Amino acid sequence: MSSHPTVQIPVDPGRLPMTLPLLAEKKRLGEPIVMVTAYDYPSARSAEAAGVDLVLVGDSAATTILGHNTTTPVVLDEMLVLARAARRGLRTPLLIGDLPFGSYEISDEQAIATAMRMVKEAGCDVVKLEGGGEASVSRARAIVNAGIPVMGHVGLTPQTSTALGGWKAQGRTAAKAARIATEALALQEAGCFALVFEAIPAAVTEELMRLIEIPVIGIGAGSATDGQVLVFHDLLGIRDGLGPRFVKRYANLQEEMNAGVTAYAEDVRARRYPGPEHTYSIDPSELTELRELLA
Ligand code: KIV
Repeated sequence: MSSHPTVQIPVDPGRLPMTLPLLAEKKRLGEPIVMVTAYDYPSARSAEAAGVDLVLVGDSAATTILGHNTTTPVVLDEMLVLARAARRGLRTPLLIGDLPFGSYEISDEQAIATAMRMVKEAGCDVVKLEGGGEASVSRARAIVNAGIPVMGHVGLTPQTSTALGGWKAQGRTAAKAARIATEALALQEAGCFALVFEAIPAAVTEELMRLIEIPVIGIGAGSATDGQVLVFHDLLGIRDGLGPRFVKRYANLQEEMNAGVTAYAEDVRARRYPGPEHTYSIDPSELTELRELLA
């Protein structure tokens, strides 16, 4: 049986594709930058329809899509499948491929090879990697030098949250906040086109923003950043529980999905579904002939 035709979501035909110069211009003009994660065709179509600027195929897919407890188990081949699907749903946002844990730490060569696969095999425009320590900065510089733009990510870096002492806000002492500043500046100096600040006190973000020239996208980092990112499943409530305190929930789709599937199951068990309107017809003469053939 063939699948249903794809639902077409209207998109603004006049909207220009996001580019790095346009992104820098948005920062210069003080226009808020909107970023969201997407992991497949329908989530990407929602991002396109909403006219967001940046779409991240995040390694948060490990938890939102694959059901792991942390982001570390997702592997590059899985990320490539998800990124390809998201690519098919996008026309205008810049598509960012997140480099999963274990796919870039070993060497600059490994990092370049992984970034190349994200671009060549999945159609990502740019990549993102976590951390602002010496190794991450070296990887970022190497990928940029290979011709692929890189977004950095500092503060809470979920891939190394165990080493950071758990899934919690970072930079809550002067020394730790200063370290985040050093990392952010090193990533900027390495050529990153933008940064993510995750789970940093808002007052620390305000101080750091004075130092950074490239666009900064925040998640749980207050309102001083140039833009915001949320995980698709968090903002739409496709999850159990509320999630981190910085999440604002705009829908409760998990409840809607549960209710829909429950109603369907009840209809099937009560023989209310399928109804006559859901069935195909056959010419009565053909049916008569069939009955003779089967007699
Ligand atoms: O993987 C992800 O979704 C992320 C965002 C939270 C920035 O890295």
